[in-house]
Amino acid sequence: MLKINNLHAKIEEGTEILKGINLQINPGEVHAIMGPNGAGKSTLSSVIAGKDSYEVTDGEIIFEGENIIEDAPEERAQKGIFMSFQYPVEIPGVSVTNFIKAALNETRKANGLENLPAKEMLALVREKSAKLDIKKDFLSRSLNEGFSGGEKKRNEIFQMLMLNPKLAILDETDSGLDIDALRIVADGVNEFKNEGNAVLLITHYQRLLDYIKPDFVHVLADGKIIKTGDASLALELEEKGYDWLL
Ligand SMILES: Nc1ncnc2c1ncn2[C@@H]1O[C@H](COP(=O)(O)OP(=O)(O)OP(=O)(O)O)[C@@H](O)[C@H]1O
Ligand SMILES: [Mg+2]
Repeated sequence: MLKINNLHAKIEEGTEILKGINLQINPGEVHAIMGPNGAGKSTLSSVIAGKDSYEVTDGEIIFEGENIIEDAPEERAQKGIFMSFQYPVEIPGVSVTNFIKAALNETRKANGLENLPAKEMLALVREKSAKLDIKKDFLSRSLNEGFSGGEKKRNEIFQMLMLNPKLAILDETDSGLDIDALRIVADGVNEFKNEGNAVLLITHYQRLLDYIKPDFVHVLADGKIIKTGDASLALELEEKGYDWLL
């Protein structure tokens, strides 16, 4: 589904942040990326999603057999790449529901589909919000405005369930969640997961991986993946930290 070869990227001022990333994600897989602060984890997810504050200087990102390096973020989203943000934006005046309706219909349009009929949309909103224990009044609030940390994260998972992407990239979706919310978010991800899609999870804590079982755990440090293992690697990191790898 996703194949990243020798990816190098820098910020506009010139510092190289990603220094040769290789990563392959197949349908049905959950990959976790861990690593010290400032390693380049959020940069990697932004570069996959196509955020333009980074410049790719070498390498390729192949999604479903196509190099997407030249694609705008919207095109990548329409092709089925979803990304949650470590720091989500606020959009005053646009409600949670209207934002997701517009995003969903935009994606459908780009894929040659009609708008989802209002009735079906409503049913979908009800079904997915109920799964995440999201209340009705929350859905009519302005997007992310005054949302608590946990509400923002829950809203991201709601967007993911609604859009049903092929690849979901979740950057620190677990940070700032209380124990119940962590469970709900993890249940949301597990509900989303199937044999045809994939998840890339960025997390600092092995805790989340108790709920969402990763097939692979990668350690990203100083712009490179320095170790890859299975779920047990996360446990080992929890115990030993990163120093032994650096
Ligand atoms: N737009 C930018 N301008 C300047 N520096 C940047 C920019 N984006 C990233 N960096 C720098 O690149 C490095 C990697 O940042 P990144 O956010 O990818 O780290 P991270 O692994 O996600 O860290 P954390 O675990 O703290 O979230 C950091 O040193 C950061 O300061
Ligand atoms: Mg980060």
